[in-house]
Amino acid sequence: MDIRPEGTKDYGAIQHIHDHAFGSAEESALVHTLRQHPLFLPELSLVASVEGKLVGHILLFPVIIKNKHQKHPALALAPMAVLPAHQNEGIGSALTQHATEAARAVGYTAIVVLGYPQYYPRFGFKPAASFNIFPPAREWSSAFFVLELTGGALADVSGVVQYPPEFGI
Ligand SMILES: CC(C)(COP(=O)(O)OP(=O)(O)OC[C@H]1O[C@@H](n2cnc3c(N)ncnc32)[C@H](O)[C@@H]1OP(=O)(O)O)[C@@H](O)C(=O)NCCC(=O)NCCS
Repeated sequence: MDIRPEGTKDYGAIQHIHDHAFGSAEESALVHTLRQHPLFLPELSLVASVEGKLVGHILLFPVIIKNKHQKHPALALAPMAVLPAHQNEGIGSALTQHATEAARAVGYTAIVVLGYPQYYPRFGFKPAASFNIFPPAREWSSAFFVLELTGGALADVSGVVQYPPEFGI
């Protein structure tokens, strides 16, 4: 398996991965829209390939953890997908780990995710509520997690995560 940042020639394969993994075009449309956004960082949009074929994609996109007194920059993990024929082969885990390292290299200190409670804790994600960090929609609360990229990075950070309007939240 090889993991690297996306390039322009990968756009079609990335769309195919999301459409098949999610069974709808919503996530691939979101990826397409976010690519046009001034905050988009191609080094945080990673593809996984097996024997030269793209089989997985992960995107980290800037968000803000905001309260009355402060705005703290963070990243949201969304979306991630692996082609159904290649799921349960460790590709999602490898993408998550590589994306985490890439985020740290760019200088971010935290990643939030709305995701499966049985999945993300294995990478060190903790319930966001334990940091007094909350999702923009109350109904997400039990599936909203945060990963500190450096020890204690969120010690003085709390608030509600504000996604760019393109997420449609
Ligand atoms: C979620 C997803 C990216 C994981 O990728 P993957 O390459 O299959 O993941 P890995 O092989 O690294 O890990 C497999 C683990 O993920 C778990 N997993 C996959 N889908 C899951 C789900 N819907 N709920 C809970 N756990 C799930 C598997 O049960 C397996 O757990 P185990 O290791 O305890 O057996 C992939 O299943 C996928 O594309 N799903 C459809 C799109 C989606 O839901 N994306 C997630 C958005 S948060």
